Amino acid sequence: MSYLEIRGGVPLCGEVKVQGSKNGVLPILAACMLGTGVCVIENCPSIRDVNDTLEIMKMLGCRVEQYAGTVRVDASEVCRYEITAMEAARIRSSVLFLGALLGRMKKAVLPLPGGCAIGARPIDQHLWALAHLGAEFSGETRIVASAEELHGDIVSLPFPSVGATENTILAAVCASGETLIENAAREPEIDELCEFLNCRGARINREENGSIRICGGIPLGPVCYRMKADRIVTGTYLLAAAATGGMVRIVNDDASRLGMLTEVLDQMEVSISCREGAVCLDAQHVSESRVCAVPYLETAPHPGFPTDLQSPLMAALCRARGRSCICEKVFENRFCTADELKKMGAKIEIQGSLAVIDGVAQLHAGTLVPPDLRGGAALVIAALQAKGSTVISDMTYIDRGYEAIERDLARLGADIRRYR
Ligand code: EPZ
Repeated sequence: MSYLEIRGGVPLCGEVKVQGSKNGVLPILAACMLGTGVCVIENCPSIRDVNDTLEIMKMLGCRVEQYAGTVRVDASEVCRYEITAMEAARIRSSVLFLGALLGRMKKAVLPLPGGCAIGARPIDQHLWALAHLGAEFSGETRIVASAEELHGDIVSLPFPSVGATENTILAAVCASGETLIENAAREPEIDELCEFLNCRGARINREENGSIRICGGIPLGPVCYRMKADRIVTGTYLLAAAATGGMVRIVNDDASRLGMLTEVLDQMEVSISCREGAVCLDAQHVSESRVCAVPYLETAPHPGFPTDLQSPLMAALCRARGRSCICEKVFENRFCTADELKKMGAKIEIQGSLAVIDGVAQLHAGTLVPPDLRGGAALVIAALQAKGSTVISDMTYIDRGYEAIERDLARLGADIRRYR
């Protein structure tokens, strides 16, 4: 089993290019199942979630080629509409094939995606939204979906669910007539999915009020599309640099996609700026490289503070000057990382959906076990601050979303080694 060894206390300094977006490319891969023609996706991150998704696509009949960060998908001979439990067990976001298979085959059979460490992850909104477009469901232990024909409708989502918005777009683009998704998710990955589909000939627009209008039934052609940077990986590296009193440039992302993170870094008294298309952070002036605490923050759908950066922020605040409070409002069980951070001397108290972090002067090294993907990244941030050499004992979760966290952080001067 791979593990990391990190010797803390080194300020991160330098320049790094961030991988393509995991949460952007997963729905786009599902969208490659639609229409005709070959889809070429450049700057595709080489991560486990992508590799597992491509395996599912091959099993459905796609011809897939991967070479040096580019993926080429030919879905002209897709012949299956069933994803088995074994295939889907590898990756939760296989649920995004529900909308794509309904759109392509008018049928889909998938296992019910299980919950995970951060919550139950129900898909009631996905099913409710797709039913508006004409899908019918049966099956107790799995999802059996079919549609005589898909038709446009007005779909008002009770919650701006990212996945439910994406599944609705994937089906609506193949439906007859127009669909309007009200209260649609506003995450940048949604707009990237729409941009990808529009490059293939679709007509999808984000309205002033955030609703998404899809003109269905337009044939989708081939495309060559370049993924944008992964904003959560960008945020992870910015928080790591802030927590170690460093100075970094992220050369291929822009602050406009970072939501409230820029305001939070400001509260931490860390300066962030955008120059020549790069995001620059300077925390070298922060005394004893201890950032200022964040008195209160809530995670929220975009443009609020992203829940995916909640645990990396918690780790960055473990040595802050003062008391910070973070309220997790998106997932019901996303504080699992706190127990691992406390092993390093962090002072964290969990009160329901609120985490109270009292900054300590020093964290000490330990052997840590990541509880989930972003929790694993949080433990790396804590290890970069800690006195001594910390072991992150299992890379399974981290490798799902970070292409080569040790490569990028070493480029920024971290004393970090990976053992296969
Ligand atoms: C996407 O998950 C991301 N995953 C998550 O990133 C991210 O944390 C989340 O959006 C929020 O931004 C991918 O894009 C692959 P939701 P998703 O539907 O679509 C509840 C990471 O670390 N809900 O917006 O599953 C749900 O339980 C991952 O990269 C329902 O109740 O998120 C949750 O509490 C983790 N019923 C909330 O809404 C539904 O039908 C947000 O879920 C759907 C969701």
